[in-house]
Amino acid sequence: MPGDRKFFVGGNWKMNGDKKSIDDIVAFMKTGPLNSNTDIVVAPPYCYIQYSRDGLPANVEVAAQNCYTEKSGAFTGEISPLMVKDLGATWVITGHSERRHIMGESDELVAQKTRFALDSGLGVVPCVGEKLEEREANQTMDVINRQMKAIADKIEDWSKVVIAYEPVWAIGTGKTASPEQAQEVHEKIRAWLANTVSADVAKKTRIIYGGSVKGSNCKELAKKEDIDGFLVGGASLKPEFVEIVNAAS
Ligand code: 13P
Repeated sequence: MPGDRKFFVGGNWKMNGDKKSIDDIVAFMKTGPLNSNTDIVVAPPYCYIQYSRDGLPANVEVAAQNCYTEKSGAFTGEISPLMVKDLGATWVITGHSERRHIMGESDELVAQKTRFALDSGLGVVPCVGEKLEEREANQTMDVINRQMKAIADKIEDWSKVVIAYEPVWAIGTGKTASPEQAQEVHEKIRAWLANTVSADVAKKTRIIYGGSVKGSNCKELAKKEDIDGFLVGGASLKPEFVEIVNAAS
């Protein structure tokens, strides 16, 4: 449970959905009920940001899943944070493991995207997390600290940053990190923030967990002191997302 940090639940729809299935998601989000003490954000594919924004209740914010490092120009196929804002989104996810490992995004590019999105006025959810072989080689915190350092070097104002810890081995695999495994990493990320940035930033910054979060495991995870919410993939497309939003109730 997050103390005085407001619980934050994000739904990352990834490359899923069409207008029909978004209508179904909007319907269960409208039915709720949604805990008013939780920040709720869903991230549709770019092309459905406006459609989702138009349908969703006002207390559900909308995020992009990615964005580029420039406001406009000759960058075919890229989307600027200003365009995302123009469609009604208020957040963006950066450095998701699928961007890092499928699209080959470097720590430096993720950090630049994070900085530019913040400068553009969006809230940002930078993602960090280790692969299975890195965990097995005891490199979990080396990897996360490296990813965190690249981002932290570029951030001045942390008030609109929510860090997502997403162990790559737990994403879409049905293998959730146990509450103890997740808490251990969250606590270390918070300690890293305290040592590297400031005690105040460490205390206030929300660190959310992602990786096979479901209705059935969210409550146990939410009880942990340093788990301040979730970034949910598959289950954010289903009615059980409401249960996850309300996990800290
Ligand atoms: P799953 O919840 O489907 O494992 O995905 C997690 C994730 O990657 C959220 O960004």
